[in-house]
Amino acid sequence: MRSELSLAPLAAIDTELLTVLAIDTQTAKGPDAKPQPVLLTADDAVIAASGAVLATGEFKAAANEPLLLHAPAGLAAKRLLIIGLGKQAKVTPHAVRNAAGTAVRFAKPRGIRTVAFALPQSGGTPGLELPLVACTRVSVEGAFVGDFDPDTYRSDRKDQSIGTFTVAAPPDSDQAALQSALTEGTIIGESQNFTRALVNEPGNKLTPTILGERAGQMASETGLQWEVSSTEKLHELKMGAFWSVSQGSEQPPALIVLRYEPEGISDGPVLGLVGKGITFDTGGISIKPSENMEKMKYDMAGGAAMLGAMRAIALLKPKVRVIAVVCAAENMPDGKAQKPGDVQTAMSGKTIEIINTDAEGRLVLADGLSYARRLGATHLIDAATLTGAVGIALGQVNAGVFSNDETTYDKFNAALATSGEKFWRLPLGDEYAEMIKSDIGDIKNTGGRYGGAITAAEFLKVFAEDTPWIHLDIAGMAWIDDNKPYIAKGPSGVAVRSILEWARNF
Ligand code: BES
Ligand code: MN
Ligand code: ZN
Repeated sequence: MRSELSLAPLAAIDTELLTVLAIDTQTAKGPDAKPQPVLLTADDAVIAASGAVLATGEFKAAANEPLLLHAPAGLAAKRLLIIGLGKQAKVTPHAVRNAAGTAVRFAKPRGIRTVAFALPQSGGTPGLELPLVACTRVSVEGAFVGDFDPDTYRSDRKDQSIGTFTVAAPPDSDQAALQSALTEGTIIGESQNFTRALVNEPGNKLTPTILGERAGQMASETGLQWEVSSTEKLHELKMGAFWSVSQGSEQPPALIVLRYEPEGISDGPVLGLVGKGITFDTGGISIKPSENMEKMKYDMAGGAAMLGAMRAIALLKPKVRVIAVVCAAENMPDGKAQKPGDVQTAMSGKTIEIINTDAEGRLVLADGLSYARRLGATHLIDAATLTGAVGIALGQVNAGVFSNDETTYDKFNAALATSGEKFWRLPLGDEYAEMIKSDIGDIKNTGGRYGGAITAAEFLKVFAEDTPWIHLDIAGMAWIDDNKPYIAKGPSGVAVRSILEWARNF
């Protein structure tokens, strides 16, 4: 999909589908309070073309509600699509992101290949804050996100991608500012889709070695330094926790390291991005039930999020040094696999009693965190599909976030306003740390059913040591079970945008 900017009057834009947005301005509640849709445009031709159908009351401007008009009078566009943003009081730029995705997903199955998207003009609506620059960026992001479909391996796959997505801005806009927002949105949307494409790959097509190759290829293309190593390096670094997961698989592990070093910056913070890259999680000897086990191909979503964030960082060039460490392995049962009761020594020297071989993510991350620290990271962030428990706690609505440092957490929380992603902070504490003390060694790799997401985070905290650290548990959010108007079911690419924004604001 190509993205471009147009400052032409809406009526003159020659496109298969012109999209304009609408809000519901009704503030009263109750049975007589009918929706009051208002178009967010100042264009007289568009207002005239849609007047009759809006007067019928059949369109309510609910969030992502579409209304299609063919051959709209007075417009060069073949079709006019009106999309609702919902109630005025709840409208944010994030609603615009989703509306752009909705427009693209509306167009794709109908064979429409060019879409123009009119930026919302909220001038006539007091209190509505939709800045053009922010809206340009989010609408392009949303369009790319909407353009992605997961049906990669269908032999009769029809490529229904949109050819050109045109952001239509008012004629008197600041063209240079909007053009750079458009470029930014394109990089971010494509990076999120890069992550989603990796997460979508099945375990037989994406082994740890292949994930390493894909990372290296992306790094070369975007000008990042990179290195991928395997078994020998794990032994050399004494990564006993990471190796213990990988030892039961025919597939060798991959230790993926990417570095972004902006010119002229030799001091200040070094951000360490650490990702869980389990390309398939059977559970190991503590084997998982077969129901839904196929989904465990997405257990590398945290690692893939780090790779997508690094892609965007390489292209957007923030003034901060960043290192990414992705620990990729397959968790398999085998004669060589580790067993419950085994004791492993992590790179940090801490000993770990293995209670459940299915709690493998924290093992690979333990050594990943230690390694990022050794490589000079001053601030750590990890992302992982770590626990089913986080999904039980927060549903498929919020991902979990944990931190050992208020300032670092505040920076992450501030990034969410821009990324539009939802994370909810969960607590840490000594009482939880108690739950993972081992009788035979330092710690054990599970703390029981209660507070499962928290005890997993406490485990990681041991390896972050005194470095400011953020942990993102995205297990409930990395895979979307049902289609939405603005995003296909399947891999979501969650966390890419927030990690990027966190890094950019440093
Ligand atoms: N990869 C899973 C977590 C997961 C569950 C991701 C559902 C996505 C969807 C992780 O390795 C795991 O198996 N965790 C166990 C930990 C338990 C054994 C302490 C879990 O959550 O059941
Ligand atoms: Mn597991
Ligand atoms: Zn796992």
